[in-house]
Amino acid sequence: MTQITITTPDDWHLHFRDGDMLNETVPATARCFQRAVAMPNLVPPVTTADMVSEYKQRILAARPKDSTFEPVMTLFLTNNTSCQDIIDAKAAGALAAKLYPAGATTNSDAAVSALDGMFPVFEEMQKQGMLLLIHGEMTAHHIDIFDREKEFIDQNMTRIVSAFPHLKVVFEHITTKEAVEFVLAAGDNVAATITPQHLLLNRNDLLVGGVRPHYYCLPVLKRNIHQQALRSVVATGSKKFFLGTDSAPHEKDKKENACGCAGCYSAWSAIELYTQVFDELGALDKLEGFASHNGADFYGLPRNSTSITLVKEDWVIPAEVTLPNGNPIVPFFGGETCAWKIKD
Ligand code: DOR
Ligand code: ZN
Repeated sequence: MTQITITTPDDWHLHFRDGDMLNETVPATARCFQRAVAMPNLVPPVTTADMVSEYKQRILAARPKDSTFEPVMTLFLTNNTSCQDIIDAKAAGALAAKLYPAGATTNSDAAVSALDGMFPVFEEMQKQGMLLLIHGEMTAHHIDIFDREKEFIDQNMTRIVSAFPHLKVVFEHITTKEAVEFVLAAGDNVAATITPQHLLLNRNDLLVGGVRPHYYCLPVLKRNIHQQALRSVVATGSKKFFLGTDSAPHEKDKKENACGCAGCYSAWSAIELYTQVFDELGALDKLEGFASHNGADFYGLPRNSTSITLVKEDWVIPAEVTLPNGNPIVPFFGGETCAWKIKD
C-alpha cells in the first residue's frame, strides 16, 4: 500500500507548555490532529477549575487561523486536591485528571506523594465520569529506573483498578510487556496510550555508541522484548490501546546538557512515524483504530468526521526548529528520514 486515508486522528496525551511556546506547539499539533489531551504539568501546575479554563483559552488563542482544533483539558492532582476541585474542574470542561507520582517527571514535584489519601478523590471522579490518567512509575530512589513501571503496576495500579471498577483509567505511555498484559487483562474501563518513541526504539538506541539525549524520555526506553510487546499489541488492533504522543518540547540546550531534560518533541512527525511503524508491522489496516477511533470511543467522545491522507514518500524531518523566543529545539527524529508523509 502506498497511500492511506484515515479519519482525522487525535492525540490523547501531549505537552503544549505555555506562553509563547504555544505558538509553536499548538500549530504543530493542529496540522494533523483534531483534538489533543493537554497535560497539566505547567509551572505552576493546572490545579484548579479557573486554571483549566484560562489554560484552555491560551491554547485556543494559539490555534492557526481557521483551525477547528480542540484541546481536551486535564486537572493536575496533588495531595491537596479535594472532591470539590473535581466537581469544579469537570464543570469547567476538564474531562480527565492526571496522577503523577511526585518527582516522577518534568514539573511533577507538586504532585501526589500520598496515594492512599487520593482514594476519596478517585471515588468522586468515578461518580463524575471523569477519567483518571496515570503516569505509572514508582519513584522511590531504590527502585531501578527500568523496573519502575512494573513496580507501579504491582504496588498501585492493581489496587486502584480493583477499588474503582467504573472509573475509566488510562495507563499513559506504557513501555513494558507487563503493562501490556495488565491492560489486556483488565476490564473495559482500563486502556493505555503508546508513544511513537516506545514503538520505534529500545534502550540500545538510547545508549549504544553514545548517549542520544533526544531519545531520552520518561518512562525511559526499555529493552527490546518490551518494545516488541508494544509493537505486537498495536498490530492486533485491540481497542484498549490508542495514540498518545507524549510530545514534550524542551529547548535544544536543555536536552543536550550534562543533566538533560526528559521528553521527545514529536508533534512534527508523530502521525507519519506511527504510520511507518504500522506499515513495518504489516498492520496498516489497524492504524485508523489506534490513531482515530479507539481513543475517542474510550473517552466517550464522537469520532472525527473529517479525514487525512498519508502517502508512502521519503522526507527528512527538520533537524532543528526555531521557537518563538528565538531558541532552537530539535524535533524527535530530526534530520532523519521518515517513510510516510501527509498528503498536502
Ligand atoms: O519524557 C517525558 N517528558 N515524560 C513525561 O512524563 C513528562 C514529559 C515532560 O513534561 O517533559
Ligand atoms: Zn506526558
